[in-house]
Amino acid sequence: MTEIANASYEISVQPSGRAFATQDSETILAAAIRTGVGLPYGCKDGACGSCKCKKLSGDVTHGAHSDKALTPEEEAAGYVLTCCATPHTDVVLESRQVTDASAFPIKKMPVRVASLEKKSHDVMQVRLQLPAAEKFRYHAGQYVEFILRDGARRAYSMATAPHAQETAPGLELHIRHMPGGKFTDHVFGAMKEKEILRVEGPFGSFFLREDSDKPIILLASGTGFAPIKALIEHMRHLGLTRPTALYWGGRRPADLYDAAWIAEHTAAMPHFRYVPVVSDALPEDGWSGRTGFVHQAVLQDFADLSGHQVYACGAPIVVDSARTSYIQERGLPEEEFFADAFTSEADK
Ligand SMILES: Cc1cc2nc3c(=O)[nH]c(=O)nc-3n(C[C@H](O)[C@H](O)[C@H](O)COP(=O)(O)OP(=O)(O)OC[C@H]3O[C@@H](n4cnc5c(N)ncnc54)[C@H](O)[C@@H]3O)c2cc1C
Ligand code: FES
Repeated sequence: MTEIANASYEISVQPSGRAFATQDSETILAAAIRTGVGLPYGCKDGACGSCKCKKLSGDVTHGAHSDKALTPEEEAAGYVLTCCATPHTDVVLESRQVTDASAFPIKKMPVRVASLEKKSHDVMQVRLQLPAAEKFRYHAGQYVEFILRDGARRAYSMATAPHAQETAPGLELHIRHMPGGKFTDHVFGAMKEKEILRVEGPFGSFFLREDSDKPIILLASGTGFAPIKALIEHMRHLGLTRPTALYWGGRRPADLYDAAWIAEHTAAMPHFRYVPVVSDALPEDGWSGRTGFVHQAVLQDFADLSGHQVYACGAPIVVDSARTSYIQERGLPEEEFFADAFTSEADK
């Protein structure tokens, strides 16, 4: 096939029929984000597999990606990772997650660290002040990226619902320390109030699908709780009464770091249930609740997930295990699993 420099190709997505065009050597996902078409994605870097779609026709070349995100067998069967796939022809994809849901404009903004509060030994609640004139709009569940001095980016999910911007403008993030990590070593080390950082956002396809009335399972591991907290606040704000169960997993009880918030929301939302799950409790923790891996607690409690929606966030291993087992063993429809896997440099 002859390659045409600076070619533009049309990408259409079934069954919604939405279409957009790529520019130059842009990846399919970059063009979708630029044009506001909500293809699913997470890391944008070939590591998490969230952007995997079935290709119905057309040719693409994949850039570097992890074999876990797209296995050679999946690639041979016609699946693509849109975040690292560059088209050579017009392409038709299948993605049932693409709807007409409006995308908010993506902005770069300077932000100021307003407060730093430790929620547990390795979780920092960071509040960021936005520029005074800035009205930041996002869907509950989405994330922003810090743009570091060397151009590296790190993603963190907003932990409050968008309506909170009206009364308390600013961003709340929950950041877990990964020792040796470029950004979180700074957050837990030299970062001070008033520090200025640059962020860009909002990004992400992890947000509540409000056109469904299916019961909801929320699965959080560690700081995966942050976007899920935003989702629950949003549901409460809208007065939604879909039956909702939150399974939040950590190693030790102290990793489930927001007991007061949970108590307030379970009291205020009768259709909302909370199941904390601890994997490595020690005798001194005095833990008498559920134990084991959090995604397995859901498997124990639900024989059939064919009528549910699942929203999962946090450690990639938890998100991947949940996706595979809920779809293969519990009949969850593939397009009803929404996730952000918190991938880091270690996963790439
Ligand atoms: C969509 C999305 C949303 C996210 N939301 C959140 C959130 O709300 N809260 C949150 O806490 N996190 C979140 N994350 C994770 C976050 O973006 C960072 O990846 C994480 O905080 C680590 O950043 P870091 O710079 O400290 O570590 P990194 O520099 O990425 O390093 C991570 C770990 O890997 C090790 N490492 C570094 N380089 C290598 C290498 N080459 N090989 C092997 N190991 C290596 C480091 O020592 C460290 O332990 C999210 C991620 C994504 C993709
Ligand atoms: S968004 Fe493509 S692999 Fe993560």
